[in-house]
Amino acid sequence: RGRRLSTPAIRRRKGGAALVCLTAYTTPMARFLDPHVDLLLVGDSLGMVLYGFDSTLPVTLDMMINHGAAVVRGSDTACVLVDMPFGSYQESPEQAFRNAARIMAETGASGVKLEGGEEMAPTIRFLAQRGIPVCGHVGLMPQAVHVAGGFRATGRSEEEAAQIAADARAVAEAGAFAIVLEGTLEPVAAAITAELPIPVIGIGASAACDGQILVTEDVVGLFSDFTPRFVRRYAELGGMIAEAAAAYADDVRGRRFPGPEHCFHAPGRKEAR
Ligand code: KIV
Ligand code: NA
Repeated sequence: RGRRLSTPAIRRRKGGAALVCLTAYTTPMARFLDPHVDLLLVGDSLGMVLYGFDSTLPVTLDMMINHGAAVVRGSDTACVLVDMPFGSYQESPEQAFRNAARIMAETGASGVKLEGGEEMAPTIRFLAQRGIPVCGHVGLMPQAVHVAGGFRATGRSEEEAAQIAADARAVAEAGAFAIVLEGTLEPVAAAITAELPIPVIGIGASAACDGQILVTEDVVGLFSDFTPRFVRRYAELGGMIAEAAAAYADDVRGRRFPGPEHCFHAPGRKEAR
């Protein structure tokens, strides 16, 4: 094949055509999305979206590796990145390398993403210099929900805006090939995008960014526990699934399913029906 978009190719899209990114957790979803996107992120949001946890903190490395490998199997052209889960990289650059190397080796993904700003810069440099492409993630950082006190927009005060800009700068200088900027006020996102030499992929961070990412289940109506204001719904698949289940239930109870065409018959004994 060899047609998959590489992390250097993503890096070169800075200031060019908007980078189109979505999350994917499974092989079938990856197959649906792959022809339409530049990048598929196996996000640790899967803990909330697929597993019903109320934060991303319980997500394990094994979960990320299993879903990462499934998404790589379901795609041929998108660049696939896998999130490093909480607790798998914060302790030290060495711990981060050991776990990122497992993700790379066991999934076939093209890179990893991890949350954090200035404090993670030495770790990002350690990985990037040792063969692991890293995408940063600053602004609203869901793995830090207990420190932030909730999922809320960032960059509201001058001080917080300056810290996010410093974090983004540190991540870029450490060698990240791209950075996700989540839940950040538009002027702050615009200034960071203008300043950084790497693509800024926004989520709730305005159209000023170099690209956009959303959680696919939010986009297609498959996750309704909570829909952030920055999501646009393009389909209501959850409602369609419920309607399909109701119609099936009716047919089974009314003995209208299965029909003769769904049944196996002995060869050569074609009953008249
Ligand atoms: O986990 C995730 O899905 C993410 C994206 C929303 C950026 O980190
Ligand atoms: Na994530």
